[in-house]
Amino acid sequence: MRNSLAILISGRGSNLRAILESPVGEAVSVVVSDNRQAGGLEHAEQHKKPTHVVERGDYPTAAAFETALSRQLEIYRPQLIALAGFMPILSADFIARHEGNIVNIHPSLLPELRGLNTHQRALDAGMQTHGCSVHWVIAELDSGNVIAQQAVAVQADDDAARLAARVLNEEHRLYPRVLAELLASPHQ
Ligand code: GRF
Repeated sequence: MRNSLAILISGRGSNLRAILESPVGEAVSVVVSDNRQAGGLEHAEQHKKPTHVVERGDYPTAAAFETALSRQLEIYRPQLIALAGFMPILSADFIARHEGNIVNIHPSLLPELRGLNTHQRALDAGMQTHGCSVHWVIAELDSGNVIAQQAVAVQADDDAARLAARVLNEEHRLYPRVLAELLASPHQ
């Protein structure tokens, strides 16, 4: 498998850890965080992966931040860029610069529940089925084509934390599998 997957994180990095502990982990060539405090950086270091921090606050504009992020990624020339809890919203320019070759995992069955706080919103809406989606990243938030999804049944006694934990568990199974399939597919 080629070493050509870049992972972008902002926080605890449990999806990153699941990826690194799966067969596709060997394809991860770099982990970039926009937050020096991100717990996920430790997972990368434990797996001896190069890490870089590019923080928005170190740049005068969002465009300058994205240029720095792009430069860092271009050193590694990744075949695929996977967002795993990466919080900055990327511009259309950035997405185009990387040939639309960016995927994300989102904690809902898209197109339902784009944006944040999906678990509480699923409960508030009385949804019986919730879940997670891997999708292509386009300029419009959480709106690119869905590649794969995993449904999770909502239980009567669920609160947002319990539901989030079950969805996250499925994210950890879904994302590594989908990334492996994408890297192996001929158009990548
Ligand atoms: C996950 O729920 C993911 O779906 C969303 O952000 C969260 C990241 O969690 N995009 P982690 O940092 O991978 O633990």
